[in-house]
Amino acid sequence: MSLNPASIPAPEPAGDGILSVNNIEVIYDHVILVLKGVSLTVPKGGIVALLGANGAGKTTTLKAISNLLHAERGEVTKGSIQFKDDRVDQLSPNELVRRGCIQVMEGRHCFGHLSIEENLLTGAFTRRDGWAAVKRDMEKVYDYFPRLRQRKNSQAGYTSGGEQQMCAIGRAMMSKPSMILLDEPSMGLAPQVVEEIFEIVRELNTKEGVSFLLAEQNTNIALRYATYGYIMETGRIVMDGEAAALRENEDVKEFYLGVGGGDRKSFREVKSYKRRKRWLS
Ligand SMILES: Nc1ncnc2c1ncn2[C@@H]1O[C@H](COP(=O)(O)OP(=O)(O)OP(=O)(O)O)[C@@H](O)[C@H]1O
Ligand SMILES: [Mg+2]
Repeated sequence: MSLNPASIPAPEPAGDGILSVNNIEVIYDHVILVLKGVSLTVPKGGIVALLGANGAGKTTTLKAISNLLHAERGEVTKGSIQFKDDRVDQLSPNELVRRGCIQVMEGRHCFGHLSIEENLLTGAFTRRDGWAAVKRDMEKVYDYFPRLRQRKNSQAGYTSGGEQQMCAIGRAMMSKPSMILLDEPSMGLAPQVVEEIFEIVRELNTKEGVSFLLAEQNTNIALRYATYGYIMETGRIVMDGEAAALRENEDVKEFYLGVGGGDRKSFREVKSYKRRKRWLS
């Protein structure tokens, strides 16, 4: 486990990383500095969690990777992003999808007036391999998400929150991705539905080899399914480590898992203490 304040140079990306974000800075509206030197790596075939409270910068990080910031008047002003050995920070979102990296947006974003099946089909828009292959992959999505098969003719807007989240992930799968950026899949869903969705994410990871970068406020569930985690606060990565180690870390337990006692007042206090210590050593 390491502390990674912005002032310390970013580590070299791991050789087997499918995605590496190197020291990026993001500015909204030309003036609002939101990400301040964020670095992270997702290994090929890994599930990595990006954790942090409301407003920490998780969504901004995912949008920086998938090149969706322009729509929000945001811009990556420093650093670089690499996906499968290529720099991708200047690509269009569609080109990135074609290369195998797709984002599932926060809040599910299905087309409410289309059926579940029509929604899934919209996910195949970057493909050029013909109807038979698309149809085959749709059956595969239905095998992973049996609930979507049952509801395939229902208008998405009238399905449950859990089904809409499944639809959003299923639609992403229709682009045949090697990596999915998944933003707050647990948001607003009942615990057993969240569990069901994370189980399917794990299956997609192990059986289809899809790598995941998972932004979550729900630290507990994310650290049970991810192998590695990064914790963000106010636009910086403040801690990272193996998921098992983070789960056992006293500070993480106290401030993000809601367990443990201790008399510390805030995570920020603990952090600055450790930063000072690191600078002195
Ligand atoms: N389009 C925008 N213009 C200006 N500031 C923005 C914009 N979008 C986000 N921000 C600011 O950037 C910071 C990070 O927001 P972001 O949405 O990335 O956080 P988050 O970690 O995803 O939070 P949440 O858990 O609530 O989704 C916040 O302070 C937010 O107010
Ligand atoms: Mg967010």
